[in-house]
Amino acid sequence: MSDCPVVSVSKLSKVYYYGKNNKLTALDNVDLELPRKSMSCLVGPSGSGKTTLLHILGLIDTATKGSYKFNGKEITGLPESELTAMRAENIAFMFQENYLITHLTSLENVLLPIIQIRKLTASDRRKAITLLSEMGIGECINQRVSNLSGGQRQRVCIARALMKSPQLIIADEPSASLDSATTISILHLFQSILEKHNCAMIISTHDITVIDFFSNSIIRIKDGRIIQ
Ligand SMILES: Nc1ncnc2c1ncn2[C@@H]1O[C@H](COP(=O)(O)OP(=O)(O)OP(=O)(O)O)[C@@H](O)[C@H]1O
Ligand SMILES: [Mg+2]
Repeated sequence: MSDCPVVSVSKLSKVYYYGKNNKLTALDNVDLELPRKSMSCLVGPSGSGKTTLLHILGLIDTATKGSYKFNGKEITGLPESELTAMRAENIAFMFQENYLITHLTSLENVLLPIIQIRKLTASDRRKAITLLSEMGIGECINQRVSNLSGGQRQRVCIARALMKSPQLIIADEPSASLDSATTISILHLFQSILEKHNCAMIISTHDITVIDFFSNSIIRIKDGRIIQ
């Protein structure tokens, strides 16, 4: 099972219906594979379907038709409760807004996803501290997020995303508020994470720094179709 792609999507479509007779095809027959340790960059104009695709891959939304295998398992038609459990266990999200709780410390933010589901253990704390140190912000562990820079906050987000050892990391325009030097250092961090954690990653972006970095693993989308 661990050799199969994390994500395998075939002929996936998403149609939104408005009223009785109007419909909008946000995704049109998308085929896509995300192997382990791969990092892909989703690029396309505004409204081309990037967020829609990421939400479906992240099990936040479902497709209108087509097949989606996650870790080799067909998820089409699974009950909502099963999808929610799969998502909680296997998928980490990073958004343009980082949704950190600014009056809490870095460490508390990283521990939050665990606190929400069970009692904390000493090993959770050790893991969170190790992750923050790996992100290069070991000295900020007990600082409130409100006192951190944009790049430091993004690193807290990555550490928080890694707390549950995800199979798939999904980032929707994660660099929107970062300067290009910080963006590059975070992309390098992502690369080392993939190697170490054996997961896959997909990032959507309009940011030329990110697009240049990915140059040979770009997925272009236009009007809901993958064009490259
Ligand atoms: N919940 C929804 N209901 C109806 N239409 C939607 C919904 N979500 C998205 N759409 C439509 O689907 C199309 C794709 O939207 P999507 O948000 O995926 O684009 P995007 O590529 O992420 O754009 P951006 O770069 O601006 O974030 C758009 O035409 C949008 O208006
Ligand atoms: Mg979007």
